[in-house]
Amino acid sequence: MAHDEVSGTDTSASDSSAVETTRGASTGTVVIASDVANPGEPPHRQRVTDTDPRAAKRAARSVYTLFYLSIAGSVFAVAAYMAFPIEDGDPTALRLNNLFLGIGIALSLFGIGLGAVHWGKALMHDKEGIDERHPVRGTDATVARAVEIFDEADRESGFGRRTLIRNSLIGALVAFPLPGLVLFRGFGPQDQNPPELLSHTMWKKGARLTLDPSGIPVKASDVTIGSVFHIIPEGLNERHDKLEQKAKAAVLLMRLNPDDLNISPEREGWSYDGIVAYSKICTHVGCPVALYEQQTHHLLCPCHQSTFDVVNECEVIFGPAKRALPQLPIEVDSDGYLVAQSDFHEPVGPSFWERS
Ligand code: FES
Repeated sequence: MAHDEVSGTDTSASDSSAVETTRGASTGTVVIASDVANPGEPPHRQRVTDTDPRAAKRAARSVYTLFYLSIAGSVFAVAAYMAFPIEDGDPTALRLNNLFLGIGIALSLFGIGLGAVHWGKALMHDKEGIDERHPVRGTDATVARAVEIFDEADRESGFGRRTLIRNSLIGALVAFPLPGLVLFRGFGPQDQNPPELLSHTMWKKGARLTLDPSGIPVKASDVTIGSVFHIIPEGLNERHDKLEQKAKAAVLLMRLNPDDLNISPEREGWSYDGIVAYSKICTHVGCPVALYEQQTHHLLCPCHQSTFDVVNECEVIFGPAKRALPQLPIEVDSDGYLVAQSDFHEPVGPSFWERS
């Protein structure tokens, strides 16, 4: 037998009287039209916790244990935050902080989620009920009364009549959120122009291309055909803001057969004997483009699968990215090391509204 939560009466879902039409019997209570067949419900099945009190006790124990586990996870996360502070420029501290904080928060969410689901499935009331739906619209008399109230309020307040007061109030309400919008500016860098900051990286004329993360300079002779290197600018490891700088300046270096490269006239001289360097920051939303398919010469971003064709100046051939990866012009210095000719000629990473 099922239980109607609204009326408090027992009903059987398969009993057609439970869904008997009320159309026409009273206003606004129709649920199922008389020509729609009762779809029926499978018979109610009792759970083991409904019939065995010991099973119900066991389930209750599991539920509160999971909630206690969640509390322990939250406390652990707070303790981990204090025990592993993030030190400026120390990636190990950052990793430990993220790891233990993540474990604590995951445990906390897992405990609450699983506990709630288990509680609902094993212990909470399990009877089927029928909720009748009613039309949202009120009766004509209610609608008429509502209109009357609005009219009366309009007359008494003078909102419709005193247009100057009304319009100035609307103006004040529109202007009120503006200071809040302006305050968002404070989230950006305070002493620099954001478009300017996003448009330039550490690369400059003569900066050596060095291996990430060791900072060892790379010679052109080290780069064999088919190889790929993760590159950072010389001196990056000594910077206090190296993570911020690396997020813009990371580069992928590859060597292809020079005959395979399609180079546009304005980029003649930007590569060295088939060695090309492209920004590693995806132009979609900035993930590192870290996968190189040696056979097809495609670079793949693992986040949303944007694919860039190295042979054709890293133009987008698949995925949500809208523009090619920026190329870093390179050359070789007198000692045979690869160096940048300049910074990138366009902003790296995702597009932003003041790019050009
Ligand atoms: Fe690379 Fe989305 S960030 S495809």
